Amino acid sequence: MPKTGREKIVGAGANGDGPSVDESEPKAGSEASRSEAINPVKTEDDERVGNALRPKRFEEYVGQTMVVDSISVAVKAASRRFDALDHVLLHGPPGLGKTTIAHIIAREMDSRLVHTSGPAMERPADVVGILSNLDERDVLFIDEIHRLSSAVEEYLYSAMEDFRVDFTTGQGAFAKTINLPLQPFTLIGSTTRVGMLSAPLRDRFGLVYHLDYYNEEQLTLVVQRSAKILEVDITEDGAAEIARRSRGTPRIANRLLRRVRDYAEVKHDGVITQEISRDALQLEGVDKIGLDRLDRLYLETLAKNYDGGPAGVNALAATLNEEQQTLEDVVEPYLLKIGFILRTTQGRRTTPEGAKHAGVIQDPGADLKSDPQQTRFL
Ligand SMILES: Nc1ncnc2c1ncn2[C@@H]1O[C@H](COP(=O)(O)OP(=O)(O)OP(=O)(O)O)[C@@H](O)[C@H]1O
Ligand SMILES: [Mg+2]
Repeated sequence: MPKTGREKIVGAGANGDGPSVDESEPKAGSEASRSEAINPVKTEDDERVGNALRPKRFEEYVGQTMVVDSISVAVKAASRRFDALDHVLLHGPPGLGKTTIAHIIAREMDSRLVHTSGPAMERPADVVGILSNLDERDVLFIDEIHRLSSAVEEYLYSAMEDFRVDFTTGQGAFAKTINLPLQPFTLIGSTTRVGMLSAPLRDRFGLVYHLDYYNEEQLTLVVQRSAKILEVDITEDGAAEIARRSRGTPRIANRLLRRVRDYAEVKHDGVITQEISRDALQLEGVDKIGLDRLDRLYLETLAKNYDGGPAGVNALAATLNEEQQTLEDVVEPYLLKIGFILRTTQGRRTTPEGAKHAGVIQDPGADLKSDPQQTRFL
């Protein structure tokens, strides 16, 4: 496939008929976006608008300074030597900018990006097809890499380490092992669940980064940048109010900005002020620290129905009629981060702050003192 000298995105599906050129990212409904259905942080609408708002270069990327600085150095060094960049693993909660970084890396390396996902690479033949079509210094981006099957994963080991794949064709007496050399490429894996990655796979990444939640100041910059692209008038207070209610997540900040923009256009003159942000987000069911309906329901259920816990996440999921994965990937990480819940060996518990927010007064840590085991984080 000819290179255009700039980032080209290629979608690689599960049908085994090789990657097809696509200048956008995988469409909703594709395997790569299957998790969206169960992920309230990520909707189809977010992805469409998200692409327009996605920073294209590291200079535009807000926050995660240590990660960005480290990757920039590695990218510059690899480019200078005209080498492929070492394999990169990006992990952290949804919506914090993992896919965005993968795209920026490809752009900065002046390389092509081949986009696929763990569940889309169903059969070993899919992997061999995708790998053998990679050109020198191409970036293979595997979203949800924790969902690769072990058979597929094993093909990646030699591909990542020695740039070759060994596969067998034919059966019985006609079986033949073929050693296929590959072009040096860069694998970028992205996951919200790094703990689910096998050790051999994790160890083959030379550059491993954790993305953490953004602070209010950084999210204010994200909101201001997006408002400029969307040509929306917003005051600094208005942007800060949206930032405060965005659960530390740029994708949520962008979504809330769009909701507030609609409200400002319909109910006011279109300019977003702090008061308008507050009123619009209250209407959206987002409280002043950014918790949405599901976050509050989770907290209330744990605090009231389960008396503050400990409760297993599967029990909570059943009570809330929600997917366990949604609770684990989306709801809990932020509640843990702000210290509203604890993950103990016995199950989930609310902290006094969490119980207070849920409207339940709890004797701070009374039973924690009697059982210090319960304060242990998993
Ligand atoms: N550092 C940033 N600066 C500005 N905008 C950002 C930043 N990080 C993310 N965004 C915005 O947030 C949106 C979501 O980011 P992205 O798709 O990269 O998240 P992700 O970590 O890949 O999420 P998921 O785990 O759900 O795949 C992007 O479309 C982009 O507009
Ligand atoms: Mg992503």
